[in-house]
Amino acid sequence: MARDPASARDALIGILRHAYSGERAAALAYRGHWRSLPEGSDRARIREIEAEEWSHRDSIGGKLAALGARPGAWREVRAAAIGRTLGALCHVAGRFAPMYGAGRLESGNIREYEAAAVLAVEAGRFEWAECFLDMAEVEWEHERYFRSRVADHPWLRWISLWPAPAPKWEIRPSFRRRAATPSEDLLPERPKESSRARAAQLREMRAAQLREMRAARDRMR
Ligand SMILES: [Fe+2]
Ligand SMILES: [Fe+2]
Repeated sequence: MARDPASARDALIGILRHAYSGERAAALAYRGHWRSLPEGSDRARIREIEAEEWSHRDSIGGKLAALGARPGAWREVRAAAIGRTLGALCHVAGRFAPMYGAGRLESGNIREYEAAAVLAVEAGRFEWAECFLDMAEVEWEHERYFRSRVADHPWLRWISLWPAPAPKWEIRPSFRRRAATPSEDLLPERPKESSRARAAQLREMRAAQLREMRAARDRMR
């Protein structure tokens, strides 16, 4: 069942605050990672990934401001410390650990932006859904890259790979299914009210949101 717009907005702010600081930690860690590598395709790709994470952070920062919210101060400090520490460790950790750790984190980032896209629709920010889906697709590419760098490593005899995400082409159909028939398990908390009247009210709200989203999409064409 869909959330009402106010609680969807609160949940979206929570996800965006987490993602905003997470992008900072990731970008700083990747900066240390590519600097630890010799010239070549891995160094170039991870440098490119760093730039993509900064770009995500800029975009999320703008959306937080538009929602009248600020990044979490403590999260920001912690993200900088974590990112710089991981970046520094890349210089001594060998090749496997930084690639493995990054891939595992990236798989969570895909789900985070998929959830943000659905919450954006529920909060009435229909025009943001496309941007979050783009970000989910970029994170999917990051995950695939890091997975490819560890997939045949001998250490995988003792350490299992993180679960593979759904195919990239599934991101948008999955969003459409969830946004049209929102699923509670996508969201961190379930709505408290479950009366029939409340359900009908939410269904009507959902239908109005979808009509508005389609109209906004048509205007962009
Ligand atoms: Fe990112
Ligand atoms: Fe990423």
